[in-house]
Amino acid sequence: MRTSPSWDPAAYGRYASQRSRPLADLVAQVGADAPRLVVDLGCGHGPATLSLAALWPQARVVGVDSAESMLEAAGELDTSGRVEWVQADLRDWDPASLGEAPDVVVTNSTLQWVPRHLDLVGAWVEALAPGGWFALQVPGNFDAPSHRLMREVADEHPRAGELTAALDVPSVGEPATYLRLLTRLGCAVDAWETTYVHVLDPDAEDEDPVLTWVTATGLRPVLDLLEDDEERAAFVEPYSAALREAYPRSSAGVLFPFRRVFAVAHKGA
Ligand SMILES: C[S@@+](CC[C@H](N)C(=O)[O-])C[C@H]1O[C@@H](n2cnc3c(N)ncnc32)[C@H](O)[C@@H]1O
Repeated sequence: MRTSPSWDPAAYGRYASQRSRPLADLVAQVGADAPRLVVDLGCGHGPATLSLAALWPQARVVGVDSAESMLEAAGELDTSGRVEWVQADLRDWDPASLGEAPDVVVTNSTLQWVPRHLDLVGAWVEALAPGGWFALQVPGNFDAPSHRLMREVADEHPRAGELTAALDVPSVGEPATYLRLLTRLGCAVDAWETTYVHVLDPDAEDEDPVLTWVTATGLRPVLDLLEDDEERAAFVEPYSAALREAYPRSSAGVLFPFRRVFAVAHKGA
């Protein structure tokens, strides 16, 4: 079964402004005025959840994540103790553990790591307070050159079998997948997709900015498996060369198109 890889908060914090934009675009469609309880599923290393806390200053805010490294970084960032940080795997997490019904549940850039997450969404929506909101965003870029090349280079690696298994088909839906599911759960749903054209490394300080980006996310299952410099070089050298060809530098920087899928559901609306 595909499980979440290791997480490095510092690596994930690179390109913070590009990574924070989808959450802002997602939450802009959540119409909750004064929610009492806001939950962030797969909260990561803190900035995303703290931005929700800033948006709804009166709310109790809970961030749930399975990675100790991310929660430690989140706790350090949250110097005022504004958020309740909870370590749990979303496959087992019980909304009843909150002690009250959430008004807003957000999950941003996380469900691609949670196998069969479509089966979990029903319980999360059911747990919402009447009139509550559920908002999700997942990457929809698994056919992009960054990920296609990852799979092609993995196929040629001496440990191809393991690497290919680690890059197993991701479990994300299309906008219509989430729209149909959430409508069946009794919600009014807004689902859409956006391709951001991220401009990476405009100052030309990094020879491989796309590699730097994926090192924090999509490449982690591969990096977790590569045990020494030789194994790592056998992957990273051909992969970074292929990325440089697929994403050439322009006068603006390296352009990195990134498709994302969004759905916002209003329960009982
Ligand atoms: C790409 S990060 C996104 C973090 C944050 N939501 C954001 O927008 O910055 C994905 C997060 O999902 C968490 N995650 C992955 N699988 C999980 C699971 N099964 N249960 C709980 N958290 C999980 C990871 O630990 C990681 O912090």
